[in-house]
Amino acid sequence: MQMETLRLQPDDEGIEKAAALLREGKLVAIPTETVYGLAANALDGEAVSHIFTAKGRPQDNPLIVHIAAFEEWESLVREIPEVAVRLAEAYWPGPLTMILPHKPCIPKQVSAGLPTVAVRLPSHPIARRVIAAAGVPLAAPSANRSGIPSPTTAAHVLADMEGRIDAVLDGGPCEVGVESTVVDLSSVPSCPPRLLRPGGITLPMLEKVAGHVEVDEAVTHALKKDAVAASPGMKYKHYAPKAQVVLVKGSPEAYAAFVNTQAEKNITGLMALCFDGEEKRLHVPAVTYGGRYDGAGQAQRVFDALRHLDELNAQLVYAACPSSKGVGLAVYNRLLRAAAFEVIELDG
Ligand code: TXA
Ligand code: MG
Repeated sequence: MQMETLRLQPDDEGIEKAAALLREGKLVAIPTETVYGLAANALDGEAVSHIFTAKGRPQDNPLIVHIAAFEEWESLVREIPEVAVRLAEAYWPGPLTMILPHKPCIPKQVSAGLPTVAVRLPSHPIARRVIAAAGVPLAAPSANRSGIPSPTTAAHVLADMEGRIDAVLDGGPCEVGVESTVVDLSSVPSCPPRLLRPGGITLPMLEKVAGHVEVDEAVTHALKKDAVAASPGMKYKHYAPKAQVVLVKGSPEAYAAFVNTQAEKNITGLMALCFDGEEKRLHVPAVTYGGRYDGAGQAQRVFDALRHLDELNAQLVYAACPSSKGVGLAVYNRLLRAAAFEVIELDG
């Protein structure tokens, strides 16, 4: 399945070309404020099926449908509960995805056969212009090969997808850097909203508008064997570079002491993923991913940092654990999966 992958610029011509390809049932990677998405016409099951092939994505993992204007929601979902309207008013356009029961127009390739669909109105101006120009909602998962870190630049997309997709629209680096917050509203009001994946719209932000929000166990814990995932995406290995990643919880001093003790063992390809400035005291090569107390900065850089570790041929990476407050919860959730839930707790 080799093809030429066009590079499109985010100007009128590039956007029109992207829209035309999408209308023809082709695959185009587009920038969003979170990560790059691999888009296809969400109403065309055949086009959507090619996303799964290009990514190597398991068939039972449903996709998010992206819209360009609030009203488009109504044609996709059966009913919009009041709390969903309030969340949309507060955080759309933006990095929030809401799950609701879908109408029959949603192909099974999008919903993976579930009775629900995930919908999001992105804030990225280029994404919205492409969706509007295509004239159809766009199904788009992150534009990476399945299982590895999500792409936050067009170069990341090409590294994974060159020759496998029709085009990539280069809109520069993504602002948020981690995927959207996913909240399940499909059982409201009998059950409270449920956070399935943390992202740029934080838990306190959700609760400010929606009242109590349940946090799905899978946000911070490995799924138990044979458990049914509320969000199928959470049961797969995710965001993982080639290197083995181990998350290390502790103060800057304890982390540095731990890494430097490991360094004495002469382990091949031992590296650190740490906070800005903290690399200076480490005796191993390090990649940084933002300030220790800067969750937004960490979110922006974490996927690029994981990809960079692969370029440096890291074999074993001790990653300094972020705080799980605010947007930090999203960074923690991604790193926990990158580490396949392997965590070392220092400081007793
Ligand atoms: O920021 C984002 O959300 C990016 C950009 C491109 O918009 N997209 C993205 O898509 O992250 P993806 O496919 O990588 O992640 C979608 C997540 C998966 O964990 C999937 O299982 C979950 O949303 N999901 C989608 N539809 C669902 C549904 N009906 N019920 C439960 N979970 C669903
Ligand atoms: Mg993804």
